[in-house]
Amino acid sequence: MAVLTVTNLSKTFNLGTARESRILDDISFEVSGQTFVSIVGPSGCGKSTLLNIISGVEEHTSGDITLTSDAGGPARMGYVFQDPRLLPWRSVMKNMMYVQDDQSRDTVARAERYLDMVGLKKNADFYPGQLSGGMQQRVGIARAFAVEPDLLLMDEPFSHLDAITARGLREQLQDIWAQSKKTVVFVTHDVVEAVELSDRIIVLQPGGLIYEDITIDLPRPRRQSDKAVATLQADVLARLETLKAMAAAEPVAEPVA
Ligand SMILES: Nc1ncnc2c1ncn2[C@@H]1O[C@H](COP(=O)(O)OP(=O)(O)OP(=O)(O)O)[C@@H](O)[C@H]1O
Ligand SMILES: [Mg+2]
Repeated sequence: MAVLTVTNLSKTFNLGTARESRILDDISFEVSGQTFVSIVGPSGCGKSTLLNIISGVEEHTSGDITLTSDAGGPARMGYVFQDPRLLPWRSVMKNMMYVQDDQSRDTVARAERYLDMVGLKKNADFYPGQLSGGMQQRVGIARAFAVEPDLLLMDEPFSHLDAITARGLREQLQDIWAQSKKTVVFVTHDVVEAVELSDRIIVLQPGGLIYEDITIDLPRPRRQSDKAVATLQADVLARLETLKAMAAAEPVAEPVA
């Protein structure tokens, strides 16, 4: 698990040019322990930019980010992308091992265990082209968990999948996460998905401010068919209705206190 602290983080693209645009504006939050946090917000509000800054792929303009493992040392990070990003010329198992630092028997056994958890152990020798999109995404998720990251970053991993497959994968993700001790930051534009998965939802509004920080206190495992889950989903959706209008309007409205 990890301790992630984001303090007064801002990001401006094309700083000092005519195309200058501020995407994240003074964002602060902390995540630690076995917590599943979703970052939710309309398209273009800076969710992927935030994740990319946390992962170190993108630089921030001002503010601070600190990330340590909860044991105190540097944190390991894993990343699950919107598309599975498997190497087509490598088998499933070789894709799993490609991201590992060592190829020891223990590491192989761990990769096999996670592949088994997503129901694909029997497909270890298949090539990505022989798998459906949902199966490929499951390999991507198993691969990220198998590096045993302290912090797992996920950017809309189910958005390319049909509703039934996405639902099945959300259930699988919850089960794997419950068994592993990981801090997860999960980006989605889908409030319904966020309520099902998260302990906490950080809502970004256009202009890159935090609009709401919502605690989701429902028992697990949660299933889409649970009445309490559906009720809370409807409630959070209703609370965020105004964001739709904000996304269309300029200038950006002030955040709700
Ligand atoms: N390298 C870049 N240079 C300039 N602008 C960028 C760059 N990367 C992203 N942006 C802009 O930053 C804004 C936020 O992009 P980002 O990809 O973080 O949004 P998002 O919330 O993830 O959206 P979506 O839900 O559509 O994935 C967008 O307006 C985008 O055009
Ligand atoms: Mg994005």
